Amino acid sequence: MTTVHFPKGFLWGTATSSYQIEGAAQEDGRGESIWDRFSKTPGKVEDGTNGDVACDHYHRYRDDVALMKRLGMQAYRFSVAWPRVLPTGRGRVNPAGLDFYKRLVDALLEAGIEPFVTLYHWDLPQVLQDEGGWTQRSTAEAFTEYADVVARALGDRVKNWITHNEPWCTSLLSHEKGIHAPGLKDFRAALLASHHVLLSHGWAVPVIRAASPGAQVGITLNFSPAEAASPSAADYDAFRHYDGYFNRWFLDPLYGRHYPADMVADYVRAGHLPPEGLATLVRPGDLEAIAAPCDFLGVNYYNRAVIRSDRVPESENLPRTVHLAPPSEWTEMGWEVHADSLRRILTRLHLVYAPARLYVTENGASFSVGPDAEGRVRDDRRLAYLREHFLAARKAMEAGAPLAGYFVWSFLDNFEWDRGYSQRFGIVWVDYKTQQRIPKDSALWYRDVIAANAVEG
Ligand code: FCB
Repeated sequence: MTTVHFPKGFLWGTATSSYQIEGAAQEDGRGESIWDRFSKTPGKVEDGTNGDVACDHYHRYRDDVALMKRLGMQAYRFSVAWPRVLPTGRGRVNPAGLDFYKRLVDALLEAGIEPFVTLYHWDLPQVLQDEGGWTQRSTAEAFTEYADVVARALGDRVKNWITHNEPWCTSLLSHEKGIHAPGLKDFRAALLASHHVLLSHGWAVPVIRAASPGAQVGITLNFSPAEAASPSAADYDAFRHYDGYFNRWFLDPLYGRHYPADMVADYVRAGHLPPEGLATLVRPGDLEAIAAPCDFLGVNYYNRAVIRSDRVPESENLPRTVHLAPPSEWTEMGWEVHADSLRRILTRLHLVYAPARLYVTENGASFSVGPDAEGRVRDDRRLAYLREHFLAARKAMEAGAPLAGYFVWSFLDNFEWDRGYSQRFGIVWVDYKTQQRIPKDSALWYRDVIAANAVEG
């Protein structure tokens, strides 16, 4: 065993999101979100559950912050629920909603924990969805208004802002695959959504900076570092397509490189974009807005994708991509454990896109192990997962990646979207009947890592 040290000032934290933990869905004037509607639509969430109560964090935030402090957390990434702040999406501000976040931020600062605020972690006000949601440019305008309201209210105390969490999920997963709210299966709608999400990010960046002097502003993308299953030309083309669809479609415009031309061509060929490509969607000034310089890029990493081509004659238009399932360790989410791909993606981002700073804004594992007879949660596999990934991230730093901090997903077991409460990502166990919290072994180990600013490798 050797001790692997992290640089002084490296920020260790944990992350959650509003709909996954807050509960209090009908309280203090909160409006309906697309996740309220979606989770109550039969068949959309695996176990038929929803976020009405979740971890009841809305009422228990003081205790939760106290627990974070006991675990030595230096930073906490949480999201603001747009429908709490603007129940009708725009216009009328709900002071009680804003007040909750003011109290939460005050509690964090008092505990010496640095708040990282995500503005959009998927709970769009339902009223905006009724107008077409992210497929409409007007939703990007509404988001900018919302960003302004929140940044004015919290901007004196919050200095770290993340506009969006995982635009791929907001657009493709939710509009093409239909797995997340609003549950559409329409590729064109998904591409419209992707542009409007990115545009709303770009518009919000200067608005946040104006309202929050000295703010550090960024966006969080989820990455699926891809590789070709074999050296064949077909597999490489499938890999190119998948990487473009998942990673480059968002990265390239954010870093001033326009949408990737190979993907525009693929989408036109497949009929996902009209023959004129992006010409009617992307208006003058959009790409400049999207490429607004940011202070950091947030990286959510869970697993890699090994891609094989499966080109069937009728769909000759597009490389069909198939995920291989290599013989490795898998989490209960059905995600492969592959720490070295975290090193690879951080290194690639540094070399190809050169963000000023990087944070791992999410990384963690779903293992459902609960309390034993003594009430102890021996989640050895999560602990091993985190150790391996911390070490992989440290290696990327040796290669020059400007990684400044790491947020473990998640602080609490919580509502895992379409998987309901079946998946437990927390380093803290939640008993949903009593709302009791028990720090798992991984949380106690993480506390020691933070205290030492080092990992035993
Ligand atoms: C990410 C989400 C987060 C959580 C983890 C497991 O895609 O941002 O809310 O669901 O996956």
